[in-house]
Amino acid sequence: MTAIDIKDFSFHYPDGTPALNRVSLSIEPGEKVLLIGPNGAGKSSLLLAMAGFAQGTGSVVVEGLKVTKKNLKAIRQVLGCCLENPDDQLFMPTLFEDIAFGPLNMGLSQAEIEQRVTQALTTVGLADKAHKPPHHLSAGQKRAAAIATVLSMAPRIITLDEPDGSLDPRRRIELQTLLKSLTQTLVIATCNMNFAYALADRVILVDHGQIVADGTAQTIMTDRALMETHGLELPAL
Ligand SMILES: Nc1ncnc2c1ncn2[C@@H]1O[C@H](COP(=O)(O)OP(=O)(O)OP(=O)(O)O)[C@@H](O)[C@H]1O
Ligand SMILES: [Mg+2]
Repeated sequence: MTAIDIKDFSFHYPDGTPALNRVSLSIEPGEKVLLIGPNGAGKSSLLLAMAGFAQGTGSVVVEGLKVTKKNLKAIRQVLGCCLENPDDQLFMPTLFEDIAFGPLNMGLSQAEIEQRVTQALTTVGLADKAHKPPHHLSAGQKRAAAIATVLSMAPRIITLDEPDGSLDPRRRIELQTLLKSLTQTLVIATCNMNFAYALADRVILVDHGQIVADGTAQTIMTDRALMETHGLELPAL
């Protein structure tokens, strides 16, 4: 079954700003897809549409389920999304509770919840911060914590919006290694071309709310004219 199938999807924000204009794309299970494009291109809006946070015209289907209000609960079990701003994802008194929130809502046993939280925190390098309030973490630690909230739910599809933001080089490389090792379907938006190049099976270049190129990292990200037309730099190869 196709992981994500988007057909002719358009969306504008409540203030009338157009964000996506007749986007169509299909993502197969296990693909690692990187969304690149300049600021304001529509990358975050496209990820929000996949998670059902942006209702527009056309259709978005996740593992055969059309993204509608009625299907949102089922879709959230399949697709975990890591938002652009980690503060939108961290709202409990302690980090442990934040990471446990998803598994708790899935009705898992206490032992399973604890095991998942510990594993997710260890994976992102925050095992020693479990009992800290999230707002006492640094920006990079918050970013890693937000990723852990999604990992703990083990969804089949994971969308990540600028997961490399605020991470120091060591953490960024660790994140790259982690994301490479995951077998889930990944859709990742980033402005970091080296990060994108290192990870991508497939790159989708978005600008002005439309898909302007879709192909391998080697084809798209080495095309200087294409990249520069859309305000992007080539990765350092
Ligand atoms: N909440 C909002 N209300 C109104 N317009 C918005 C809102 N969020 C984004 N936009 C607009 O929608 C368009 C697409 O923005 P989006 O956030 O999807 O871009 P992006 O590619 O993720 O950019 P960035 O690289 O800066 O994160 C832009 O014109 C932006 O100004
Ligand atoms: Mg964005």
